[in-house]
Amino acid sequence: MRLMSTARVPDGALLGRDVRTGLAEHAPLLRAGTAITPVYRNALIRQGINAVYIDDELSAGIEVPDVLTERTRNEAESALQRAYDDIPSALGNGETVSDKAIGDLKQIAHLIARDIAASGDAVLALTDLAGADAYTLQHSIDVTVLGLVLGRRVLNLYGWPNYRGRRVFTGIDERLTSLGVGLLLHDIGKLVVPSPVLQKQGPLDADEWELMRQHPVAGVELLPGHTVSALAKSIVRSHHERWDGSGYPDGRAGSKIAQFARIASVADVYDAVTSARPYRAAAPAHVGYRVIVEGAGTAFDPEVVAAFRKLVAPYPAGTEVELADGSRGIVAALPSDAPDRPTVRITHGPDGTPADPADVPFADLPPIAGAVEYPAAAA
Ligand SMILES: [Fe+2]
Repeated sequence: MRLMSTARVPDGALLGRDVRTGLAEHAPLLRAGTAITPVYRNALIRQGINAVYIDDELSAGIEVPDVLTERTRNEAESALQRAYDDIPSALGNGETVSDKAIGDLKQIAHLIARDIAASGDAVLALTDLAGADAYTLQHSIDVTVLGLVLGRRVLNLYGWPNYRGRRVFTGIDERLTSLGVGLLLHDIGKLVVPSPVLQKQGPLDADEWELMRQHPVAGVELLPGHTVSALAKSIVRSHHERWDGSGYPDGRAGSKIAQFARIASVADVYDAVTSARPYRAAAPAHVGYRVIVEGAGTAFDPEVVAAFRKLVAPYPAGTEVELADGSRGIVAALPSDAPDRPTVRITHGPDGTPADPADVPFADLPPIAGAVEYPAAAA
C-alpha cells in the first residue's frame, strides 16, 4: 500500500483504505478496494482529500498499520458528537456536559486504549487524509490516539510524579483512561469561541486572540465536577502551556505544568501541523515531526519528546520520498526501535527514470531530502 496524490492516481487503481469524510453517521465516501474512476477522483478532490492510499504492484507488501479499528473510530466519533451536541443547551445557564456523555467518553477512551495496547509497538502512521470540514472531531480522536501512545510510553519509562514529586509506576492503566478522557475533551471549550474566530482564514487580531485564549478555562467550566477527574481537567486547562512558560492560560513552566498536559501539548501541536485547516493544507508528517523534535526543552517536555521519537516516524510507511541524489522511492518498512531510519523501496533513479524496485536499508541510502508533498488539486 502507498500514499499517492489524488490528482495523480491512475484510472482503475484500487483504494487501499476506506476514505472517510469524518462524520460518524456518514458511510465512508469510498470503500477500500474501489477502483478509481474520473468521477471518484473529482469527488475526492472536491472534498479536499489531497492524497489516498492505493494498493498496486509497486507497493506490494508495504503495510501501513492502523492503530484503531474502524469500529473503535466510528464509536469514538459518535460518542464525541453526542458530547458536543449536548453543549448548546448547557451553555449560558451554567450547566455542564451531562454525566451520560462523560460516561460514553470514558468508554471510548477505554476502547482506544485497548486498541493501542493490542497494536503493540507499531510505529504510528497518523497521516491525516480528512478534509478540513471534519476538523474538530477527527482532530480530537487523532490527538487522543497519539497522546495515549505517548502517555503509555512516558509513564512506563519515567513513571508519574506523586504529591511528593517522587516518580511512581503503579496504577498506570487507570491514569491512562483519565488521559484519554482529557484528550477527547481537550478542546471542548472551543464551543464557546464564536465560529467566525475559529474559522478565520489568516491571523487573528488582538481581540480575536483574546477570545481564542479563553477556550482552556471555558472548557473546564463545561465539565461536571464529580465525574471528570482532576487529571483529565488538567489536560483541558493546560494543554496550551509551554515548557519554557510561554504558554497560556497560566504561564506555568516545566514540571509545574501537569504531566498529562505536557503530553497533550505534543500530541495537539503535531496533529494541528499535520492536519488540513480551512485556511491551509496539511503539512507532511516530517514537518510535524521536526516541529516537535526542535521544540524539546523550549516548547515541550524533553521526556515526552524522547518518547515521541521512539514512536512516530518522520516518513511513515507508504510515503513517497526524495533522496539527496535525486532518486525517489516509497518507505517500505520502519524498525520498531528507530522509526527515523526507514528502509526505502527505490522506484526511480537519480535521473528520474523508473528503476527496478529494490528495498534499500537506511544505512545504505543517500540522505532523505524530503517527502513528496500532496498539494490541493483544483476541483
Ligand atoms: Fe486547544
